[in-house]
Amino acid sequence: MNKFTVRADNLTKRFGALLALEGLTLEINAGEIFAFLGPNGAGKTTTVKLFAGLLKPTSGSASVLGFDVSLHPVEAKKAIGLLSDQPFAYPYLTGFEFLRLAGDLYGVTAAEQRLKIPELLEMFALTDRAGDMVESYSHGMKQKLALASVLLHKPKVLFLDEPLVGLDPKSARLVKDIIVALAGRGVTVFMCTHVIEIAEKLAHRVGILERGKLIAMESVADLKKRMHTAANLEDMFLQLTGGTEYAELLKYL
Ligand SMILES: Nc1ncnc2c1ncn2[C@@H]1O[C@H](COP(=O)(O)OP(=O)(O)O)[C@@H](O)[C@H]1O
Ligand SMILES: [Mg+2]
Repeated sequence: MNKFTVRADNLTKRFGALLALEGLTLEINAGEIFAFLGPNGAGKTTTVKLFAGLLKPTSGSASVLGFDVSLHPVEAKKAIGLLSDQPFAYPYLTGFEFLRLAGDLYGVTAAEQRLKIPELLEMFALTDRAGDMVESYSHGMKQKLALASVLLHKPKVLFLDEPLVGLDPKSARLVKDIIVALAGRGVTVFMCTHVIEIAEKLAHRVGILERGKLIAMESVADLKKRMHTAANLEDMFLQLTGGTEYAELLKYL
C-alpha cells in the first residue's frame, strides 16, 4: 500500500477566468501534521474542497488513502473528516441529535454511538448543552460540535479549515492537543490556518500557497535554514508572500 495518505497530482481548479489552484502536487504521510498557509484567497479552501469531493478538479487529481476522489468518492469520503471553515450544524437539532445524525450518515453503529457521543460531548465540554438546540450555541460551541461530529467515524485523514478561528484559549488548546494526539495514532492532519504559531509549533511540514501556487513545502526547520534572514515563520511567510507592501498605504489613515 502507498504510504502517502493524501496526494495531489497536478491538481488544478479554475473558476471561469480565475485560476484558483494551479498544478498542485504534494504527498502527505500517515500521521503527519501538515499546515497549509497562505494569504486570504490563495486557494486553501478550494484545495480542501477538492480533497473532500465538494468541488471537481478542472484537471489533475486528488486522492485519499489511494482512492481518487473523483473516481471513488464514497471510499474517499469514508476515510476523511472535514471541518469546514464555516462549520455547519443544523440549527433546529440539539447538539446530541446532530451527533446522532452525523453518526448515522457515516454508518457508525448505534452501540458505538451510545459510547462515543457522550465521550465526545464531555471532551468538548458540551455535555451540559447537549440537549439544547444548535441555534442557541455560540460560534465556538458550534465549531466544537462540528469537530466532534467529524471525529465520530474515526477518520484516517482530517481536513481542518481554520480550526481555531473563534475558539477561546482553552478550546483552542484542546483542539491543538487533539490534533497532536490523533497524529500520534497515525491520523493524517491537513490543516489550513492563519495562525502561524500553531503551524510553527505543531506541523511536521508547512506548505505555503500564494495565488494558487505552492511556493514552499518543507519543515519549519528547513525553511528557516533556507531563509536564514528570517527569524521566524511569520517573517518567512511575509517574505515569501510579498511582505508588508501595505506599509506605504498606512499614510491613508
Ligand atoms: N465557488 C467559487 N466561485 C468563484 N470563485 C471562487 C469560488 N470559490 C473560491 N473562489 C475564488 O478562488 C480563490 C481562492 O479562494 P479560497 O480557496 O477560498 O482561498 P483561501 O481559502 O486561501 O482564502 C479566491 O479568489 C476566491 O474568490
Ligand atoms: Mg479559506
